[in-house]
Amino acid sequence: MRAEEIRFLLEKAEEARKGSYSPYSRYPVGAAVLTEDGRVFGGCNMENVSYPASLCAERNAIGSAVTAGERAFRAIAIIGSRDDYTMPCGICRQVMAEFHVPLIICGKSMEDYRLFTLDELFPSAFQEEGLKKQ
Ligand code: THU
Repeated sequence: MRAEEIRFLLEKAEEARKGSYSPYSRYPVGAAVLTEDGRVFGGCNMENVSYPASLCAERNAIGSAVTAGERAFRAIAIIGSRDDYTMPCGICRQVMAEFHVPLIICGKSMEDYRLFTLDELFPSAFQEEGLKKQ
């Protein structure tokens, strides 16, 4: 992916972060997912007083894209803390694996980010073939 495309996606994630509902952790996160055909969907984290009912920014973004009928993705950008690269949680990695999101951009700022492949972040994932082996 070109540097300008990465920056664009990080900007969209930053925009989505502004919508964050995170009164419990006070850790706002934004994500933006880029589809194969060039559409971008943003998502923010959305917390709940019953903590496990909270939703991460990445799953919110992917959920919006899936709702719009999208199934094929090129990348997802995530931005949370300014002091460190926000890494996706295990549940979000599983969801990224479901839709084969190949590239994960973990941002600290628009200029400072790290790139990971899905395989790096989530090796040996449980996949559909696993279901057939009972
Ligand atoms: N969170 C995300 O939305 N994405 C991540 O990649 C890491 C964690 C959220 C969940 C919770 O609302 C807050 O950040 C603190 O864990």
